[in-house]
Amino acid sequence: MNRSNFLDRLWTQYLSVAPQARAIHTMFSQHGDAVVNDHIAFRTIDTPGFNLMAVTECLESVGYQIFDHYTFPEKHLCAHALWIPDDPDAPKIFVSALARDVFPDHIESIIDTCIAPLAGSAITLEALIGHYPFVKPTWEQYEALAEVSEYAAWLFTMGYQANHFTVSVNHLDHYQSMEEVVSAVQSAGFGLNTVGGVLKGTPEQLLVQASTLADTQPFQFADGTVQDVPSCFYEFALRYPRGDGTLFQGFVPTNANAIFESTSRQR
Ligand code: NI
Repeated sequence: MNRSNFLDRLWTQYLSVAPQARAIHTMFSQHGDAVVNDHIAFRTIDTPGFNLMAVTECLESVGYQIFDHYTFPEKHLCAHALWIPDDPDAPKIFVSALARDVFPDHIESIIDTCIAPLAGSAITLEALIGHYPFVKPTWEQYEALAEVSEYAAWLFTMGYQANHFTVSVNHLDHYQSMEEVVSAVQSAGFGLNTVGGVLKGTPEQLLVQASTLADTQPFQFADGTVQDVPSCFYEFALRYPRGDGTLFQGFVPTNANAIFESTSRQR
C-alpha cells in the first residue's frame, strides 16, 4: 500500500463514522474551494507493538518523518508530529499515545483486560484503517474509563482509525477567516467543541483551530448493552507565518489539549 492508497482509504473509513465531515466537506467544495487536509490524527496506547513509536514506524514506511513531539501531562499523553518533508501539501499526521501505569488499580485492570489480545502482536499500516484489536469493555467498565480518560474510552470503543481530519483554512478562498468557517459550520447545524472557547489559539501563537463535536454511533459492549459512543470529528486549522515568512507547521499544546475534548461524551 503506498501513501496515496493509505490516505484515500483512511478518508473513506473516516467518512463512514463521521457523516458530518462529508456534509461539511461538501459545503466547502460547493463554493469551488479545493478542500486540503492540514493534518490527520491517530490515537494509541503505550504497550509493546502498539505504542507511539510503533505507530510512528508504520507511518514512516510510507514516507512520513517526525518533526516535533509534545506532552500533555494532565491527559497522560505524549505525541509525535510527522510530515512529508518534500511534499508540503501532504497532510501532516499527529499521533498521540496514552501512558499506562498512571491510573488507579481498578482502571489499570480494565485497561489490561482490553489490551490483552495485543500481547505478542504489532500494529500495521493496514490496521490503522479501522482495525479493532481489543477485548470490548463492559458498559460499566467503559463508564469507569471515561470518568478518568475520555481518550481511553474512545480508543477502546473505536479502535484504530483516523480520530479526525483537519481542513486547512489557509487553502479555502471562499472563507476568509476562522470566524467565517465556524459561523458557516454552526449555521449548517453542527455543534462545535467549546472547551477553551470555540477558537483555540491566537494569531500570535501562529495556529488557530476549531473542531466539531464528534458524531456518535451505537456500540455493543461486552455485557450486551448497546449505547451511542462518540466516533470522530472534523477540525479546522488556520496557520500564520513565522518571522521568516513561512507558515508555522507545528502544533500548540494548549490548543491540542482542548481539541482532545471533542470526543468527550456530552452530559
Ligand atoms: Ni488535530
